Amino acid sequence: MSDDSLPAPAPTRTAAVIPAAGRGVRLGPGAPKALRTLGGTPMLIHAVRALAASRAVSLVVVVAPPDGTAEVKSLLDAHALPERTDFLLVPGGESRQESVRLGLDALPPGYDIVLVHDAARPLVPVDTVDAVIEAVREGAPAVVPALPLADTVKEVEPAATQGEPEPVLATPERARLRAVQTPQGFDRATLIRAHETVTDDVTDDAGMVEQLGVTVVVVPGHEEAFKVTRPLDLVLAEAVLARRRLNDGF
Ligand code: C5P
Repeated sequence: MSDDSLPAPAPTRTAAVIPAAGRGVRLGPGAPKALRTLGGTPMLIHAVRALAASRAVSLVVVVAPPDGTAEVKSLLDAHALPERTDFLLVPGGESRQESVRLGLDALPPGYDIVLVHDAARPLVPVDTVDAVIEAVREGAPAVVPALPLADTVKEVEPAATQGEPEPVLATPERARLRAVQTPQGFDRATLIRAHETVTDDVTDDAGMVEQLGVTVVVVPGHEEAFKVTRPLDLVLAEAVLARRRLNDGF
């Protein structure tokens, strides 16, 4: 039998889950973080557009604050989003981990690659999204974009009271450390197994996959994929947007 008679392999389809159900207390009082605006547009809409900008992403699942699902629905309806992308909206949970799991539960069959992307990283460039997807397509079960650190990092014994001096326990070698970003990309079955198996509180999905003993690989991240966490990050995000507008104008 010649190769021509074999059916073509089914294309791998990619979905993105965007947890956006956090309150973002470190930003100060106000609306849930994902609904705060940057350049007049909610952070969540920037994040959704950033993922939908990849031609490989055909479904985006937005995980909304449980008491803000109707508001998020009207935001998604009110902003232009690519027509080739499907959207789903689900209410989130108490922790980021629970919100991601609720997003995974809503995924229809047929998506073999799943990206998980924080709404709090609204400015991730499409090239970073595509690089993560490419590495999963090439066979890595879990992929995280990451950057080398500028600061030296100390491990400390955390003080009981904030602001008290904290004894240093160790100084890991900076050249071996990476600060990880999102979107993190996964073989769907591996990510689902991680969420079924790991119950410890973790801050990223790749950490859960590591606990399964599965190898996670790092690809280069991007400085514009930073997480908007503190008030100064909003200033930086506005500056990045202003620079993009200026560049687009020429
Ligand atoms: O709090 P942190 O910045 O680590 O949150 C990362 C992402 O997880 C944010 O996009 C936030 O909206 C989301 N999150 C969530 N559900 C929670 C807590 C956080 O979807 N209960």
